Amino acid sequence: MVSEHVITSAAQVLVASNRGPVSYALSEDGSISAKRGGGGLVSGLSAVEDKLWVCAALGDGDRAAVRRGIAEPGVRMLDIDADVHADAYNGIANSVLWFVHHMLYQTPLEPVFDAEFRRQWASFEAYNLAFAQALAEEAGEGAAVLVQDYHLALVPGMLRDLRPDLRIGHFSHTPWAPVDYFRLLPDDIAEQLLRGMLGADRAGFLTRRWADAFTACCTAVLGGTGRTRIGVHGLGADADFLRRRAHEADVDERMAILREQVGGTGRKTIVRVDRTELSKNIVRGLLAYRELLNTRPQWRERVVHVAFAYPSRQDLAVYREYTAEVQRLADDINEAYGTPDWTPVLLHVNDDFARSLGAYRLADVALVNPIRDGMNLVAKEVPVVSDQGCALVLSREAGAYEELGADAIVVNPYDVSATAVALHEALTMPDGERAERSKRLAAAATALPPQRWFLEQLEALRRD
Ligand code: G6P
Repeated sequence: MVSEHVITSAAQVLVASNRGPVSYALSEDGSISAKRGGGGLVSGLSAVEDKLWVCAALGDGDRAAVRRGIAEPGVRMLDIDADVHADAYNGIANSVLWFVHHMLYQTPLEPVFDAEFRRQWASFEAYNLAFAQALAEEAGEGAAVLVQDYHLALVPGMLRDLRPDLRIGHFSHTPWAPVDYFRLLPDDIAEQLLRGMLGADRAGFLTRRWADAFTACCTAVLGGTGRTRIGVHGLGADADFLRRRAHEADVDERMAILREQVGGTGRKTIVRVDRTELSKNIVRGLLAYRELLNTRPQWRERVVHVAFAYPSRQDLAVYREYTAEVQRLADDINEAYGTPDWTPVLLHVNDDFARSLGAYRLADVALVNPIRDGMNLVAKEVPVVSDQGCALVLSREAGAYEELGADAIVVNPYDVSATAVALHEALTMPDGERAERSKRLAAAATALPPQRWFLEQLEALRRD
C-alpha cells in the first residue's frame, strides 16, 4: 500500500507514549516552565540518536506550550482535544484497561459495558489514530517505532496500515490479564485490542508470565499471535544513577530529617514508596503493620512504618477514595498505638524523589506488596541504595518476583496475616544474612539497566 502521508521528518527511532519526557506548567502571569521527567524510558533512550518522542499534551500547561510553539528538541506533543483525551485516558485506559490487566474490578457490580463505554471507546480510537498519524508523518523510511503501553494498544495496527515500511514494536509496562479475566471485555473490543497490538512486528513484556498471558489471550480470542514475535525484556534499576544520586546533599538532608522523625535509638524502619494506586495494595500493607503491632507488641516503639504514597490519577473518584482510606488508616494506627515520642506510621503524600532516596537508604525492610504489578522498580531500587542492606517483603504478584523471589520474603498480597508474619521475619533477619541477601537482590535488580533494556528491544526489532 502506498502511504498517503507526507513524511515531515526523518527520525530513525521513534517512541510513542501517553505521558512524555517533559511537562509544562502555566503560571498565573502566563509564563510557561518545563519540567523534565525521569524513568526507565528516559534513561533508556538517552544513548540513542536521531530519535523523536511523540506524546500527548496532558494539561493546560502542555496545551499552552504546543499552541505557542514551545517544544523540546526531539519531542512532539500532540494537542488532542481535551474531552477526547479525557475519555481515552481516564475512561478507557485507566478505568478499563488498567483495571482488566490488574484485575481490579469488584465484579458483582463492575464492569458495565454500555453506551457510555462505547462513546468513550470511540474517543480511544480517535486518540490512537492521532498518534498513528503523527508517527506516520514523522518516521523516516524504514524507521523503528516503539509504542508504549495499553493507552496506545491500537496504534501498531493503525500505523502498519499507514506505513507498511516501518519496524513497529509495542511494549507493555503492565501485567497482562489471564484469559478468563480478559474476556470480561466485549468480544469485539477484545479482538480489536489484540489485533491492534499484533500490528506490531514485536510485542514486548516485562516478564515471561505476562508474555504468556498475552499469547494465551491471542490464542483464545484470535486463534494465535500471527506473525508478531513476543519478547521478554525485564527492565532493571539504573545502579550508576541511583548510587550517585542517593549520595547528593539534598538526599543527605532529607535523610537526616527522616531519621529525626523516626526517632528512638535503634528503631527499625519498614519503608514503602508508591504512587497512591489501587494495585499497590497500600491499605492491606497498613493492615498488616497494624496486625504486627497487635500480635507482636514487642515491636511497639521499636519500629516505624515510613510510607510514602504519592498522588496519582486524582481525576478518578475511586483513586480519591483510596487516597482518603490510606490517610484514615494511618491516622487510626497512630491514634491507637502512638506514644508521645513514637509515631508508628510516617505517611508522606507529597512527591519528593530526594526524600524517597533518603528513605531507601534508611530502610531495614522494604515492603512491596502489590495486588499485581508489571515489574515494580521500588523493589529493585531499595536494595541497590539501602545503606546497611535491607530485607525485602515482596508480593508474588509483582513482575519483580521472577528475578528477586529467591532472596525476598515472598507474600500473597491478599493475606494480611501472612504479610504481618513476613514483616516480623524481615525485622528479625540476622544482620549478616540481610546484608548478603540484599547484595544478591541488588545484583539481580540491576542485571538489565535501562539503556541496555532499550537497545536490546531496538536491536531485536531491527533484526527480526
Ligand atoms: C505506571 C505503569 C505504566 C503506566 C504509567 C502511567 O508507571 O507502570 O505502565 O504507563 O504508570 O501512569 P500515569 O500517571 O501516566 O497514568
